[in-house]
Amino acid sequence: MTARHRIIIDTDPGQDDAVAILLALGSPEIEVLGITAVAGNVPLRLTEKNARKVCELAGKPETRVYAGAIRPMVRPLVTAEQVHGKTGLDGPDLPEPVMPLQKQHAVDFIVETLMAEEAGTVTLCPLGPLTNIALALVREPRIAARIQRIVLMGGGFFEGGNTTPAAEFNIYVDPHAADVVFRSGVPIVMMPLDVTHKALTSSARIAAFRKLDTRPALATAEMLEFFERFDETKYGTDGGPLHDPCVIAYLLQPDLFRGRDCNVSVEIASELTMGMTVIDWWGVTKRPKNAMVMRDIDADGFFALLVERIGNL
Ligand code: BDR
Ligand code: CA
Repeated sequence: MTARHRIIIDTDPGQDDAVAILLALGSPEIEVLGITAVAGNVPLRLTEKNARKVCELAGKPETRVYAGAIRPMVRPLVTAEQVHGKTGLDGPDLPEPVMPLQKQHAVDFIVETLMAEEAGTVTLCPLGPLTNIALALVREPRIAARIQRIVLMGGGFFEGGNTTPAAEFNIYVDPHAADVVFRSGVPIVMMPLDVTHKALTSSARIAAFRKLDTRPALATAEMLEFFERFDETKYGTDGGPLHDPCVIAYLLQPDLFRGRDCNVSVEIASELTMGMTVIDWWGVTKRPKNAMVMRDIDADGFFALLVERIGNL
């Protein structure tokens, strides 16, 4: 099958990032041009290594992985070891990767790829803080018109925040980068907490991965069991939200999701609400609609897709 989607995954693995990468690498409709790592859930030296571990777990060591920004644009780095563990990928015992890290900087790779490929053919899939994407847009503003679209995980409105009462982690960590991205004019599809909080890893859903009995599927079950424990305590649910794979699932099966076009603006001034994504869901302002904001998901269909595709690996 020829790939329908040619993508760059920008990521801070993170167990849910890892599952998103596995979903992409297990899907013949998707060609992963490269994976760019950013500091986020854990520092960059771990996120780039984790990205390589996941490519090897998928049996795709030829995937190109690039290291990007070591810290957010303005604010100091905030990490989330309390959620993801010390390595960022706690749960399964994954070997140290042997595949190389590419020498080129992630931001240069993003710019070079977008300038070299036919305009409108490459989609960016950010799963972490938006630092690399914003730096690329600032470094070479001509890429904005060449990006097919950005499908990202970040923000929240009706659900509030998961890092502060107002802000979701990815946007909170680098609100200035998010501001650059949401003002860029690039078409954006946004997966906020309002949709990802409806994609819960229940025990029955994790059991479906175990049943596949392959190394990638068993590692997925182990990652999810580790990852969900923090949110289960926090939210009192059976299972935790599986955020980042929503981005890749949207490329494969957009009808799993429902949302609407809105204006999204990012708070970068008030310390109290720093990183809040102010979503004009009801269209009460004249601000331009700059993102398709998702709010509903067919969660059973989403997990069925994950099991099928991770089963391909
Ligand atoms: C986001 O923050 C990270 O902890 C997850 O990987 C996800 O990208 C959810 O708020
Ligand atoms: Ca992430």
